[in-house]
Amino acid sequence: MIKRGAWRTRFGFYLLAIGSACGLGNLWRFPYVVGENGGGAFILLYVLIALAIGAPMLIAELMLGKNTRRSVMVATVKMANKSIPALKWSGRFAVILSIVVLSYYSVISGWVLHFMTQFVVSLFLESGNVSSKANLAALMSNGWLQLMLASAHLLMTIVVVAKGIHEGLEKWISYMMPLFASLVIILLVKSFSLPSTPEVLRFLFYPDFSKLTMSSLNHALGHVFFTLSVGFGTMVTYGSYMREEDHVPTAGIRVAFVDSVISLIAVMMIFPVAFQASNVPLTDPALMFEVLPSYLLGIPGGALFGLLFFICLYLAALNASIGLLEVVVSNFVDINKSMGRVKATWFSGVVALTLTVMPALSGSVFKGVKVNGKSLIEFLDSLLINWILPLVALMVLLAFNKGTAEKQKESAFLEKGQLVSYSMYPQWIFIMKWVAPAVIALGFLLQIITLF
Ligand code: PHE
Repeated sequence: MIKRGAWRTRFGFYLLAIGSACGLGNLWRFPYVVGENGGGAFILLYVLIALAIGAPMLIAELMLGKNTRRSVMVATVKMANKSIPALKWSGRFAVILSIVVLSYYSVISGWVLHFMTQFVVSLFLESGNVSSKANLAALMSNGWLQLMLASAHLLMTIVVVAKGIHEGLEKWISYMMPLFASLVIILLVKSFSLPSTPEVLRFLFYPDFSKLTMSSLNHALGHVFFTLSVGFGTMVTYGSYMREEDHVPTAGIRVAFVDSVISLIAVMMIFPVAFQASNVPLTDPALMFEVLPSYLLGIPGGALFGLLFFICLYLAALNASIGLLEVVVSNFVDINKSMGRVKATWFSGVVALTLTVMPALSGSVFKGVKVNGKSLIEFLDSLLINWILPLVALMVLLAFNKGTAEKQKESAFLEKGQLVSYSMYPQWIFIMKWVAPAVIALGFLLQIITLF
């Protein structure tokens, strides 16, 4: 079993927290959500919410873990006992949400694995003229292949998590992150050299507020929580492993900052290619998979580039999946100590695998099942991230607010010589108490109106 407070180094914590935050959310999901919500104005809204609400809530979740040295279920039950009993459920909801999200996240990770192998094929076996469009369509209609790829991904996640945070996660991620950063930068430079760049910059950074809809606020909130891994309990678990001397607010701000920068880089990297390719729907969840592979295969040396890019994307997906599975496992281990980490990991992994069947077959066996014109996997994504996640994140926040004494908050937040400390404490308290709950409630209200 893991001893708490067990990161070997502070670096280990950052690797995992940032690794959990930066994933398919930044590279796959953010671009099409931006496309759906019309570009610049949404990006502005997103950045504002990430900084003013996401980062403060991330700090609260890390603090909840570090103060209680427990995972989200036990931690929130402790908090809720002191106040509103219904909030006891917040931790359970967070864990259930994590495992359901892991199930469809694995399907998308499987798509990444698919393109990775396609690049290997085109690099070594053919002269590089595989059409990614045909590939994507073929993949979408082949549910069993998707299920196989998702299972392979889950299996990999299980193996890393089962080994525990020392041997498993820390080591893996320390190899992954530098590679990830360098690849993203190279690709950004490459995509910026395309002629569509000025048009893209205008689309991304010139805010046209008339493009926002009633749902945009909730889309921004949901995506901020998703990308920062807030509302799942992941950050509570990672906070519970933090070392005593580590300063929570500094850590929270750093993670939120790096994550937001990566999201912005991702859209700047993908949109020039999408604009170049013309008639690609910017709102399609397959946006990234539709434009990048064909672009990369069309340029000299692109197959190697594509391979590197998809390896990098896969590593990001794996890191994030590790975060999702780790929540479930750490909660199991907290509650049932006799179960042991390895058993808990396999058990949760098999549950996730079972849940994967439906979304994996969404484009084939369940092709006819459409909710609101959305395929099963799209519907699942929008239901979980735009509706359920903000609600669960709010419940965890309320449990934290009610159950954490002012003194505890002060002692975790205030520390001399830290950038985020005395000067920001009153604002943080104000945001936690009023701003975040009010904005989440408003987002819901506006979104509910769109239903009628
Ligand atoms: N933040 C991850 C991403 O952006 C997804 C995730 C959510 C990972 C919750 C762990 C926990 O892809």
